[in-house]
Amino acid sequence: MLDKSESQALHLGPTPNHDRAHPATISVQDVSFWYGPKKALKDVSLEIFKKEVTAFIGPSGCGKTTLLRCLNRTNEIIPNTRIEGRILLEGQDIYAPEIDPPVLRRRFGWIAQKPNPFPRSISRNITYGAELQGLATNRADRTALVEKSLQAVGMWDEVKDRLRQPGTDLSGGQQQRLCIARAIAMQPDVVLMDEPCSALDPVSTALVEELIDELRQNYTIVIVTHNMQQAARVAQRVAFFHLGELIEAGDSKDIFVRPQTDRCHDFITGRYG
Ligand SMILES: Nc1ncnc2c1ncn2[C@@H]1O[C@H](COP(=O)(O)OP(=O)(O)O)[C@@H](O)[C@H]1O
Ligand SMILES: [Mg+2]
Repeated sequence: MLDKSESQALHLGPTPNHDRAHPATISVQDVSFWYGPKKALKDVSLEIFKKEVTAFIGPSGCGKTTLLRCLNRTNEIIPNTRIEGRILLEGQDIYAPEIDPPVLRRRFGWIAQKPNPFPRSISRNITYGAELQGLATNRADRTALVEKSLQAVGMWDEVKDRLRQPGTDLSGGQQQRLCIARAIAMQPDVVLMDEPCSALDPVSTALVEELIDELRQNYTIVIVTHNMQQAARVAQRVAFFHLGELIEAGDSKDIFVRPQTDRCHDFITGRYG
């Protein structure tokens, strides 16, 4: 149990809803992962629930990004890697032979640490991928998609008069929200975010956190974060990793108030990591 001052330091966000209508969207079952001889994940099993935010936390190098990249099968692009175990998405084994990795990857949005808009206009950032996928093939559809996606990230009024300006001219926080708009324009089921606020100032971080909370109404979100306060604010579920092992997973309100292991307790109270 955290003492009073420790638990007061973490402001817990909304409570989870998975005990109600939503089944697990992603089921990670005994997953191990190797980079050459190095075992980066060790028998990880974890349920990720639909329309919730799940945060991966733990010290640097513990396997958070690796697991995120196992979910959308982008790790296997790295030579000499190997995965064992199963990952189910909506009940379907994503590593089954009949799965086409590029098609699978489109079910996931990816938000990187550093905002990475294309060096093209704001509107082209949104329409490019969607058009390639046949989601917005005529001009009217593209115009509508740009407005809808920018509305969804709360940016439409900020940029509607300069849609032809380069996305790279925006502020860092706006660039990251543009990247989120670009990701959701592709209609993913799951949005994966790898430390999406680590390059942002506090005001932009707060905006992105608010946005994550809104997006969870429509998407399943997995976020890697170094920031315990952020995990407590945005996530309904938390998974704590250490040296490739999943040490604890559960509802934020349990993990942050009553961590079951000393390691997790020490980490969330800032004693190491
Ligand atoms: N491309 C790679 N090749 C070899 N080892 C890697 C590679 N990427 C990550 N690793 C190793 O795997 C472990 C887990 O890394 P990572 O998943 O990036 O951790 P985290 O995101 O928690 O910081 C680390 O020991 C890291 O050095
Ligand atoms: Mg990482």
